[in-house]
This record gives sequence, structure tokens and C-alpha cells, in this order.
Amino acid sequence: MSTWAVLVAAGRGERLGEDRPKAFVGLGELPLLAEPLRRLDECEWVDHLVVVAPAEWEEPVILLAEELGASKAGACVTGGETRTESVRLGVAEVPEDAAVILVHDAARPLLPAGLVKRLLEALGAGFDGAVPALPLADTVKRVRDGVVAETLDRDGLVAVQTPQAFLAPVLRRALERGEGTDCASLVEATGGRVTTVEGDARLLKVTTPADLELVASWLR
Ligand code: CTP
Ligand code: MG
Repeated sequence: MSTWAVLVAAGRGERLGEDRPKAFVGLGELPLLAEPLRRLDECEWVDHLVVVAPAEWEEPVILLAEELGASKAGACVTGGETRTESVRLGVAEVPEDAAVILVHDAARPLLPAGLVKRLLEALGAGFDGAVPALPLADTVKRVRDGVVAETLDRDGLVAVQTPQAFLAPVLRRALERGEGTDCASLVEATGGRVTTVEGDARLLKVTTPADLELVASWLR
């Protein structure tokens, strides 16, 4: 019963606006990718790792994994045009007998040690999928053409993060489905039961330069 992690790092990082993909922008002394790669490799609940690299950055990914001594990182594949496509390409490298697949955004470097355990426990309790979630602090409104159309009832609304954990066959089936902003939405659409576990504010997704600065400050 093995657990595989697919680390998606193939995005361009357009909103960060640097001269290289987000995964290779500096965070401390190393490229951003080093942090989530090392954390997943050191996680006792993860058996194997697939890294999904930006086109033409496969070699630097392999060299970085070697430099870090990330011995679980057995495969590196080139990503696709969308996040879902990159996940699909990564999952294609996971052997058929894998029990669980975790999908994690390289753009969320500060993966806390205990989170993977909480996700796997939720699968053990009988769910098809489990995702980290945080309550919303702000009031949420729907706006159309600059006018507030609706204020949503915040009760029951959460913001979800990665890693997201799934029973491997359920995720494979869901990925045949199409596109989604996260993997859980595809699993939900195919009738899978997904639960939430407590997320972590420091698992912030680096999107803008300010996010990168914040994450760097948490690491110092
Ligand atoms: N991702 C990917 N393949 C893509 C798009 C995104 O592997 N075609 C990955 C990113 O590398 C990131 C995660 O999915 O780890 C979340 O995506 P996002 O934060 O949107 O990163 P980017 O797409 O790189 O950033 P931007 O949208 O600003 O270009
Ligand atoms: Mg993107």
C-alpha cells in the first residue's frame, strides 16, 4: 500500500513576473521548488515522488533533487498547458498498484509535517479524498460589472489548499473528466466523497512578489 506524491511545478509564474518559472525563483539560498521537494521527501508518510517540471527545466529539476538528496524523487516529467494537464501527466507516472496519490502545488512551499498524516487518516476513515481547508475570515460577495450582486452566507464556506489526497483509482478516473481549478473538484464531479482537514495559513500559495516576500520572511 504505497503513497505517491505528485508535485506540480510546471506553471509559468506569470503573476510573479520573473524571468524564469516560479519553481526556480529564489527562496532563501535555493530555488523555491527545493522547499516543497525536500519537505515531501522527508515526510515519513510519502513513499515516492513525481515532479512535474516546466518544459526545458527538467534537467535543473533532476539536478536539484540530486543536490537535496531527495531519494524518493524517482521521476520527473514535463508539464502541460494547464494545471490539470500537468497533474494528469504526473499521475501517469504513478504505478497501477499505488494506493494513495497526493497532489501538491510547488507554489505552496511551507508544507507542515503533520498535514499529510491528517489527510491520510481521513482516507483511512473511508473518504475518497481529503483536502486542507481554512475558514474564511472575510465576507464574500459576488460582483457583476462592478456591482455587488450577492453577499454569500459564509457559514460552511472554506478556502482549500494542497496537498490534496485521494485514493489512486478515484483520482485517475476523475482526471479523465476534464479541467478543474483543483483535483478535488474533479473527484466531487465524479461522485467521490471528499472531506476537509485543518489547513495551515503558512501553506500560502506564492502568487505575487508580496507572497514570495512573506513566505521568505517565515523561513528566516
Ligand atoms: N502548474 C503546473 N502546470 C501548469 C500550471 C500550473 O504544474 N500548466 C502548477 C504550478 O507550478 C503551481 C500550481 O500548479 O505549483 C498552482 O498554479 P499557479 O499558482 O497558478 O502557478 P503558475 O501557473 O505558475 O502561476 P501564474 O498563474 O501566475 O502563471
Ligand atoms: Mg496558474
